[in-house]
Amino acid sequence: MVIILVGGQWGDEGKGKVIDYLAAKADMVIRSQGGNNAGHTVITEDGEFKFQLMPSGILYPDCTCVIGNGVVVDPIVLLKEIAQLRERGIEPKNLVVSERAHMVMRYHPLFDQLEEESRGDDRLGTTWRGIGPAYADKVRRIGFRIGDLQKEAFMRKKLAFVVDQVKNPILTKLYGGEPYDWESMLAEYATYAKQLDQYIKDTFPIVQDALDRNANILLEGAQATMLDLDFGTYPYVTSSNPTAGGALTGSGIPPTKVDLTIGVFKAYTSRVGYGPFPSELTNEIGDQIRERGHELICTGYRFRGTLYDHPLANISHYKHCEPVYEEIEGWQKEIGSARCWDDLPQRCRDYVVRISELIKAPIELIGTGPRRDQFVTRGRKLFN
Ligand code: IMP
Ligand code: MG
Repeated sequence: MVIILVGGQWGDEGKGKVIDYLAAKADMVIRSQGGNNAGHTVITEDGEFKFQLMPSGILYPDCTCVIGNGVVVDPIVLLKEIAQLRERGIEPKNLVVSERAHMVMRYHPLFDQLEEESRGDDRLGTTWRGIGPAYADKVRRIGFRIGDLQKEAFMRKKLAFVVDQVKNPILTKLYGGEPYDWESMLAEYATYAKQLDQYIKDTFPIVQDALDRNANILLEGAQATMLDLDFGTYPYVTSSNPTAGGALTGSGIPPTKVDLTIGVFKAYTSRVGYGPFPSELTNEIGDQIRERGHELICTGYRFRGTLYDHPLANISHYKHCEPVYEEIEGWQKEIGSARCWDDLPQRCRDYVVRISELIKAPIELIGTGPRRDQFVTRGRKLFN
């Protein structure tokens, strides 16, 4: 069975917890887009784990964890995460990194920062991890794939070109910065090559084999729908496609093999970074929601007399539209110990049913707190 999991809002919906829940039964977990701009927190009996690149399935010894071709990998960050796991006694022996995945290079975080600073008040609020510049280089066909680490002569030739002909002229002439020395970069990347060599593989046959075996495969989304490069609030988006389509191109799984797509939503919406957010509450109610989680459901947007049931593509219309709300009663009860549907207060169940009607999709899992076991499940088998 193949399940795609995506964030339904602007990220930070608590995907990590749902991924961890599903990963327990998964044979393979694949990251397919984004990079270390993501951050998943999983809380287990052994404490808190924070992952940026590592697929969350890494905590399960029998799960194969794939960093897919659609991810941009900063080798420095990946090596740090591997080291952190080892410190806690976990050997990531089942980690495989697609040789097709592009690398976030030394210069990408710097360009991310410089480009943001030069935008002034119009900045995007990126994470400064170099994600946008790395994807831009991939599309410009001057990116480095992680498999290139295994080809010394190729690295030498290409680094010399990209650094001397493309990056340094911009860095020095446009930004007045110090040029990079490609030869010392080459030496630096040779050390990453050595340390990462055992993980770098052609993941295509590995993923196809898993499909042939009918393995349980989880495509672990990073970021979220409203940050999608095409469907989000462009340009206040990330540089990949965190929606279900991106999971396919980013992993090599064909659409015909996908059994289920799950969206993870928070009861209220929040976003980091910048960009229009029509239902943002900057008043006291907003403060209270942030504190206590009272509910207000935004069901649509009104703009120049027309009611829309989806976010508007035109960013300035989206910025100036009026959110339409449906107010429902809060339940004002602690639900952290609820485990089944009947444990939930009636008003809470009414709320879930109403959301399900509005989004025209069943709601199968309800998180009731930050811990790994804090879920209300509704009976549907998500993985056998
Ligand atoms: P970038 O992905 O660093 O280029 O940032 C672009 C936008 O996506 C910014 O608004 C970031 O705050 C947002 N963003 C990127 N990754 C995440 C995430 O994992 N959670 C929430 N927001 C994110
Ligand atoms: Mg996050």
